[in-house]
Amino acid sequence: MNLLIDNIGELVTNTGIGEGGPLGIRRKAALLVEEGEVAWIGPARYAPAADRRIDADGRAVLPGFVDSHAHLVFAGDRGAEFAARMAGEPYTGGGIRTTVAATRAADDDRLRDTVGRLRAEAMRQGSTTIEIKSGYGLSVADEARSLRIATEFTPETTFLGAHVVPPEYADRPDDYVGLVCGPMLRAALPYAKWIDVFCERGAFDADHARAILTVGQAAGLGVRVHANQLGPGPGVQLGVELGAASVDHCTHLSDLDVDALAMSETVATLLPGAEFSTRSPYPDARRLLDAGVTVALATDCNPGSSYTSSMPFCVALAVREMGMTPAEAVWAATAGGARALRRLDAGVLRPGVPADLSILDAPSFLHLAYRPGVPLISQVLHNGVPQCQP
Ligand code: NIG
Ligand code: FE
Repeated sequence: MNLLIDNIGELVTNTGIGEGGPLGIRRKAALLVEEGEVAWIGPARYAPAADRRIDADGRAVLPGFVDSHAHLVFAGDRGAEFAARMAGEPYTGGGIRTTVAATRAADDDRLRDTVGRLRAEAMRQGSTTIEIKSGYGLSVADEARSLRIATEFTPETTFLGAHVVPPEYADRPDDYVGLVCGPMLRAALPYAKWIDVFCERGAFDADHARAILTVGQAAGLGVRVHANQLGPGPGVQLGVELGAASVDHCTHLSDLDVDALAMSETVATLLPGAEFSTRSPYPDARRLLDAGVTVALATDCNPGSSYTSSMPFCVALAVREMGMTPAEAVWAATAGGARALRRLDAGVLRPGVPADLSILDAPSFLHLAYRPGVPLISQVLHNGVPQCQP
């Protein structure tokens, strides 16, 4: 059974072939899906016959969003903390411990329901690939089960045992780092592809972060870092030094940080939902792009600093607040996210890759920023399977 998407007004391929530079835009196009993969792309007038047909009626089609940074395994609600921030309280990350307590107290089904609900919510908004971190368990058993549940929803799972030092280790952080590097890492390994550390004042310093990331890397995990979110710090340069796939947040960068990123393969993943929800200054995407850094956009979906699963919202914020053009933001939310996960088969539409895409209820990708807050994702295909009806 194959499926033809016909009469596409504007097809964003991210192949660099066609109009729009890296976006590789093709107009009046059609796309054939076979066995879950893109089988053919070409002019609509040459479209082959197919068992099923979706008439895009001149609308835009783009690769599924790649949300390369999300914390979906948690329990509890921190709406009151958000309200306090909107009344002037600063964000310090201290609320992470509230979520750790609620997560530890929740049973597996409760956590699974939350991940499933948020995964479905993200898919409805066009995210066909999503990374999911642990980090609200912070015990050997709770980190392992968080990751085990995450693997039920995505292959892109990240061990974040070094999110904060949990209360029972408050006066002996070195012992906690030893736990993370030893028994916790061993329990996480069967379920994790990546390792991440919150390298920030009040969480883990450069020495602790280096120790944890190095031992995780030696065990076969890819490296990512929460870096330079709340203030300047060593996280970005540490990530570059270790060959991290991505350093995430990048809100407070020195010129040396920007230079180090520009000389590296490490992606700078920007998370504007966090600045929105903590009422903080946004990262300067323009500065990074002008320096030649590869930029990705992701949601950081979590119950504390950024409770949104919406990549379209992040695209709109990046354009309005961070100096990105709509084209740069859409590339960063698709191909950029794929680079941050070192995935060659995501964030792109060409024959042979999984048919992961969105049909917009709009004539152009531009509308994602031009019409903020409007539900423009009318149909999502994941592995060639329609996820929701228009
Ligand atoms: O990426 N910065 C660290 N971790 C999360 C926030 C977690 C929370 O507040 O619960 C983040 O923003
Ligand atoms: Fe995060």
